[in-house]
Amino acid sequence: MNVLVTGGAGYIGSHCVRALLDQGHTVTIIDNLSTGYLQAIDSRAKFYNTDIRKFDKVMSILINNNIEAVIHFAAFSLVGESMHNPLKYYDNNVYGTKVLLDAMAEANVNKIVFSSTAAVYGAQDVMPITEEVLETPSNAYGETKLAMEKMMKWSDIANDTKYVALRYFNVAGAHHSGEIGESHNPETHLIPLILQVPLGKREFISIFGTDYDTPDGTCIRDYIHIEDLISAHIKALEYLDKGNESNTFNLGSGLGYSVLEMVEAARAVTGHDIPAKLAERRAGDPARLIASSDKAVKVLGWVRNYTDVKDIIASAWTFHLNFKEGFKNDKHKY
Ligand code: UFG
Repeated sequence: MNVLVTGGAGYIGSHCVRALLDQGHTVTIIDNLSTGYLQAIDSRAKFYNTDIRKFDKVMSILINNNIEAVIHFAAFSLVGESMHNPLKYYDNNVYGTKVLLDAMAEANVNKIVFSSTAAVYGAQDVMPITEEVLETPSNAYGETKLAMEKMMKWSDIANDTKYVALRYFNVAGAHHSGEIGESHNPETHLIPLILQVPLGKREFISIFGTDYDTPDGTCIRDYIHIEDLISAHIKALEYLDKGNESNTFNLGSGLGYSVLEMVEAARAVTGHDIPAKLAERRAGDPARLIASSDKAVKVLGWVRNYTDVKDIIASAWTFHLNFKEGFKNDKHKY
């Protein structure tokens, strides 16, 4: 298929581009490089350095490349920042998606797979979380992703644009080649921050809260390997291509690991003692988030290959050893 990937220079988008190309699809990327990197872009893809909020540009890209489906990653995704600057999130995430959907309707492109988040759920009492529970986002980021999902729903009814919304839990790890991986500036995610210690870039990892209602008092999360996550996107694309109805799926491993367990696993992987210091709770963190992904397994036929969190950390470690300073905006070497 001819697939447009928005945000194809970002962490998750770049892995999706590579998987699509490896499977014989033709890939066009739109990325404004606000958080993505040229170095992450696969040279086999066609790249447009532009913004999804530019209707005319998006329209001409859709038409000139005979795009048949869109995979939409372009969005801001920092929970903390979204609380300080919510309108930035509404502008890029909600308005950007509105422009993209407008252009798709105009260009007769009627399939979209898009990245949503566990943040749409907010704090929930019952674990694992299924897609049926009432969404109660507790931050502006999650609220904008939920608004994007709802926009898709109404666009489907009005314009017959079919969508699959994929609600990610904690995405982690890197491509098995070690050539692309998670590179954020600033970094806020647990695994890359832990790995900065053995890389000599940080003296210790802070544990945000040790008095949660969990067995060791630290927060529990569901870590899903990036390549498993991406394989669900390919399945979702095939699902839409077969003419199925719009749908929403959780993507997680179904396994919960505490922050302390993650630090311990990283010690085992890196052979470094990784000092940890107890710190205050981070605002807005729910005690535990674990996905039920049964629906994706059943409906999409999704198969996960990574079952041990040490393997997820090991793949991230390989990438960070290859790119100690993270990605830069240089052209890709491979
Ligand atoms: N943590 C620490 N120390 C750190 C960094 C993180 O203890 O230095 C803890 C956090 O408090 C949290 C856990 O590690 O308990 C995981 O934190 P991350 O920032 O890696 O991930 P989050 O669970 O906060 O966020 C993820 C995605 C978001 C998404 C959210 C949904 O990164 O995009 O899940 O809840 F919105």
